[in-house]
Amino acid sequence: MEVSVECLRFFAALIESETGIVYSEPNYYQLIPRIVELTQTFALSGPDELRRSVEEHLLTPEQRHHLIDAATNNETSFFRDRKVFEAIHEVMTTITSEKDTLKIWSAACSTGQESYSLAMTLLESKNEKVKRSIYSILASDISERVLAKATKGHYTELEIDRGLESSLRSKYFEQLTQSQNLASTWRAKKVLSEHIHFKKINLLERWTHSSKFDIVLCRNVLIYQNVENKRKVIQRIFDNLEPSGYLILGGAESLSGISEDFEHVPVAGAVVYRKLSA
Ligand SMILES: C[S@@+](CC[C@H](N)C(=O)[O-])C[C@H]1O[C@@H](n2cnc3c(N)ncnc32)[C@H](O)[C@@H]1O
Repeated sequence: MEVSVECLRFFAALIESETGIVYSEPNYYQLIPRIVELTQTFALSGPDELRRSVEEHLLTPEQRHHLIDAATNNETSFFRDRKVFEAIHEVMTTITSEKDTLKIWSAACSTGQESYSLAMTLLESKNEKVKRSIYSILASDISERVLAKATKGHYTELEIDRGLESSLRSKYFEQLTQSQNLASTWRAKKVLSEHIHFKKINLLERWTHSSKFDIVLCRNVLIYQNVENKRKVIQRIFDNLEPSGYLILGGAESLSGISEDFEHVPVAGAVVYRKLSA
């Protein structure tokens, strides 16, 4: 099935306006299989009919969500970039040396592995103040599809094997299926999920939280955004951080040219910033 350049341009513009995710012309090829799949899923004659359906507002709200979902890259894994979780533990240690509570936000949580890894980092801590802290984790994403999976906390053997040690697997996950022919599925135990709250949030829209966060993880999501959107999102995160709160970015991300309201905290293997006080 062929997708014309005009059609690709139309969908790239639509995706950017709704999610901020930039597909520039050299990356249009990444959109082609997604558009073809959507066309087939919606039983349409081709990409042009999909485009017309969007223009003439003929898609159901579910189909529109599906379209936006299809544009997202949801790559993630348990303890993705292990050093980052060591750095986060250091940050947790610093914060809990002064108070008993920890409020954390995983701002683009994808299928949830990042938020469950945060909970395991706390629960497995050898530092009593971290381990006993009264913590809450907000985990959000724009994609309803990944949030549904994250909330369920169900993972295939393959997903579990990507980053999770077997001792943590048996301590925090229970096996749902066990058959010779079927691959196993694992479910997060209550002890792991009980302090995690999943919520749909588009980082580009106005959002407010009832209280401020000590740590915000915004990893591997801003790389897909233009500079203006990066500034907007970082400013709002700044507004929602406690004084001296911490921001953790992905390994390839930085605040250079984006914000001067944070100081860089040198930590090996992680991109960590601390909010500057006014
Ligand atoms: C590559 S994943 C990163 C997951 C996790 N933070 C990690 O580093 O492993 C990027 C996630 O950002 C989400 N995303 C993209 N644009 C977004 C937006 N405007 N608001 C909220 N989430 C968004 C995608 O749905 C996707 O799940």
